[in-house]
Amino acid sequence: MDTRIKIFDTTLRDGEQSPGASMNVEEKITLAKQLARLGVDIIEAGFAISSPGDFEAIKRIGAEVEGPVICSLARARKEDIDRAWEALKDAPRRRIHTFHSTSDIHLKHQYRISREEALKRSVEAVKLARSYVDDVEFSPMDATRTEIPYLCEVVEAVIEAGATTVNIPDTVGYAMPDEFGDLIRVVREKVKNIDKAIISVHCHNDLGLAVANALAAIRNGAGQVECTINGIGERAGNCSMEELVMALRTRKAYFNADTAVRTEEITRSSRLVTKITGIPVQPNKAIVGANAFAHESGIHQDGLLKERSTYEIMTPESVGLMKTNLVMGKHSGRHAFRDRLKQIGYELSDEDLNKAFDRFKRLADQKKEVFDEDLEAIVSDEMQQIQEVYVLNHLRAESGTGVTPTATVELVVDGKQVKQTGQGDGPVDAVYRTIAAMTKTQSKLDAYLVKGITGGTDALGEVTVKVEEGGKKVTGHGADTDIIVASAKAYVNALNKLEYWKKGRPKNS
Ligand code: KIV
Ligand code: ZN
Repeated sequence: MDTRIKIFDTTLRDGEQSPGASMNVEEKITLAKQLARLGVDIIEAGFAISSPGDFEAIKRIGAEVEGPVICSLARARKEDIDRAWEALKDAPRRRIHTFHSTSDIHLKHQYRISREEALKRSVEAVKLARSYVDDVEFSPMDATRTEIPYLCEVVEAVIEAGATTVNIPDTVGYAMPDEFGDLIRVVREKVKNIDKAIISVHCHNDLGLAVANALAAIRNGAGQVECTINGIGERAGNCSMEELVMALRTRKAYFNADTAVRTEEITRSSRLVTKITGIPVQPNKAIVGANAFAHESGIHQDGLLKERSTYEIMTPESVGLMKTNLVMGKHSGRHAFRDRLKQIGYELSDEDLNKAFDRFKRLADQKKEVFDEDLEAIVSDEMQQIQEVYVLNHLRAESGTGVTPTATVELVVDGKQVKQTGQGDGPVDAVYRTIAAMTKTQSKLDAYLVKGITGGTDALGEVTVKVEEGGKKVTGHGADTDIIVASAKAYVNALNKLEYWKKGRPKNS
């Protein structure tokens, strides 16, 4: 019988710590629902004390997302643990994850406390968390640079205090696979009460070894892996969920282990994370990169045509990468539209469905063939339910040889209609300068990315922008068959997000 490895997804917590990856509450809920469809066991929904936005996201995910255990991170402090409990108390399945550093480097330079004090704080934190919930995880932060006998002492003490999962983090991505596997074996052998807890691992990717380290840990008895979709996270990121899951699935006999992940949901989950965070996946990334299943060489293509297994160790279908389906056209009705959305994983409220259907009809008029990817772009635009301070009403841009690029933009700003004309170095620049003047934004455009969603010159263009103001970075998206309009939509979307952060959401920790 295969050992069932639990997948603890921390895309919403450690993943959100990627530079520029902040998500608003609605985006977090959308992603949490997709994680539930994907079949992860635990969702670390945030760090409750770090901001009101994280608190609200944890609370709402706990109430609205069925299936996985919902978890909040908390430092080993009373106020953190109380706040985590406040956020989680209505969730039917809940976990508090508390942590304290244990390496001498951290204790001496950052905390300035003794090992004894760190141990005492860890035990007290676990006891307090256990007074609220039955499911408590403890992480000795920087475990891989902690002296092993002391690490074992802490792990034993927190299990004694009631921890049900003990997580061994490679916080700085320092470990080597054999060494990390050995560490897990030693913890398993030396900690007397280890059978009362699940051993988890949390590997960072600073040396590109996060997945290899997590797999080595599984070979040595780890029962839970912490990971993120697309491997996003602090610095070089975390263990990539899709790589770990597919390594176990593809080499099940080697590992004698598997997960409950519905791998067919991987591609959709990866695309959703890219869309929400604006962090693209490199084309050659394993499992979810654009080239992961593309065979270029003639010899490989010849082999594949004869027998797929010659050059394919897993099928694109197994990760939900289907050949683009022609799904709908201008004669398709609302019912068929709703059904198709359901099949590709989106259930919209009546109001959102009406808006999305209107956009679909306009798109179908412009574009003969509407593909699943187009529908996803439309729907995820409708799902960005942040309060809109700015609404793009109308846009006209002129450019060409011998013409000064000029844009006339009509916006609704706080309910009032405004119109302005401006010029720039190109049509997008003219639009952006005009919108910036109209909204009086102090923000700076950090990145501008444009992508054709499906092939052909009538394809929907999708624009992603990153905008920064006062240290806060946000991502905006817009999709349209007209790339200038898509650019304007993306910019306005980003400015709305900045307004949201300015009004409602203090800076994350
Ligand atoms: O990297 C780390 O050590 C963490 C802990 C909070 C588990 O993210
Ligand atoms: Zn981490």
